[in-house]
Amino acid sequence: MASAGSKEGSGDGIAELARRRGFLWLAFEIYGGAAGFYDYGPLGALLKRRVEEAWRNFYLKEGFYEIETTNIAPREIFEASGHLESFTDRAVVCKHCKSFFRVSEGVDVREKCPECGGELENAGEFNLMFQTRIGVPKGGRDEGAQKKSEGYLRPETAQGIFLNFQRLLRFNRDKLPFGVIQIGKAYRNEISPRKSLIRLREFTMAEAEVFVDPGEKSNHPRFEEIKDRKLWFVPSEGEEGEKSIEEAVRSGIIANEYLGYHIAKVEEFLGRIGIPQDKLRFRQHRQDEMAHYARDCWDAEFFSERYGWMEIVGVADRGDYDLSSHASHSNTDMGVHGKLQVREGEAEKTKAKIIPHVIEPSYGIDRIIYALLESSLYEEQVGKEKRKVLRFKNEIAPIIAAVFPLLNRDELKSKAKEVFQQLRDASIFVEYDDSGSIGRRYRRQDEIGTPYCITIDYETLEDDTVTIRERDTMEQVRVPIAEIKEALFAQYHMD
Ligand code: GLY
Repeated sequence: MASAGSKEGSGDGIAELARRRGFLWLAFEIYGGAAGFYDYGPLGALLKRRVEEAWRNFYLKEGFYEIETTNIAPREIFEASGHLESFTDRAVVCKHCKSFFRVSEGVDVREKCPECGGELENAGEFNLMFQTRIGVPKGGRDEGAQKKSEGYLRPETAQGIFLNFQRLLRFNRDKLPFGVIQIGKAYRNEISPRKSLIRLREFTMAEAEVFVDPGEKSNHPRFEEIKDRKLWFVPSEGEEGEKSIEEAVRSGIIANEYLGYHIAKVEEFLGRIGIPQDKLRFRQHRQDEMAHYARDCWDAEFFSERYGWMEIVGVADRGDYDLSSHASHSNTDMGVHGKLQVREGEAEKTKAKIIPHVIEPSYGIDRIIYALLESSLYEEQVGKEKRKVLRFKNEIAPIIAAVFPLLNRDELKSKAKEVFQQLRDASIFVEYDDSGSIGRRYRRQDEIGTPYCITIDYETLEDDTVTIRERDTMEQVRVPIAEIKEALFAQYHMD
């Protein structure tokens, strides 16, 4: 038996493992790399797909629909959304080594350069969007024509949803509330990213935009289901501590039931994919850190051994900011007939038009991947040996099982390959390995978080049974081959 296992110190261990085993690679590495860009290797790509799929299914179950909108948009979109004017970061620069730092990351002009100890000076505000050109500017060098051809890579996926609001409303039979999701790349030209997956210039967001009648925000139809869940809240004013969602909403810490419901859903999802609850807290933004579109925002923060508390999800109340702004800039009616209301002094019922409010859970998928890698890695003493094990939940493990022949003999290898192929044909992502001792093969799978190892031995050739070894307990059971497919399929399939 293994000991309970200890956590792997500072998080350096996971960076090395992630690189060596094909989870994460520095992009453009053969040319020296570039800060803020990472590639996912084969196991990283599998892990990411599984997290995205779990996320998609989670929100589809809420009754939301998914759309896919463009990564590039013309300048006028971001004039309307406020990103051109307000999506900026302040920077300071070191007079000596010329390194730039983002002020909101705690470096201030009154301090010394964290790189060389030199004096810092203000370097101004930088817009974080990547600019590009859409087509060839008509009208040559004329400034108006130049501006018309300006495009930007999206800094969030949300805008694509707001721009399609009218059509989405019709799709939802003109009724509120409804939710729309999108998973995709977003781009931010960060001033000086230094923290692997934590601050990327190209990254994946998974966002849900929930449109609700402002008069109904304190009346979520499924609030009862989540109201007793207890979370750790750090409000912008007052004491932090554990509270039920209901207590937090009733005492005004959380402004309304919709926000409370979606904070609870964020916690539920993160727990489901394996983020430990004792490493999670919900922190409210201070006024001075709130995005330009938000009237309230709570971050789900994960405690990283390496980076301290870091945001992995934001849940914002965007009010009517986006729809109102796009309505006036594009001259489009974004109004919706709200619930029947009786106006004082009026005998007749009237249907007032309202601009919906938006509650937005916005997940940083790459940061979640980092949090999963870091919090899943354990080092254990097994007899005289140490083993590293990634304790991924079955729902997200990149590979659900590995198939081994016990010994390097042709008859065992061909049976093992047959079982391997049967499982792959059933869309179950398994691996085959016959190199090195069985002990080494177990360790290799432990290190990448494979929950099961299936071993083919001489008994298999007689009665079609195999041993299945479970990753965390390392216990083995003997089961008929005929039962494996169904058992694994219930937990993992690629379609
Ligand atoms: N849509 C949320 C964000 O941009 O952070």
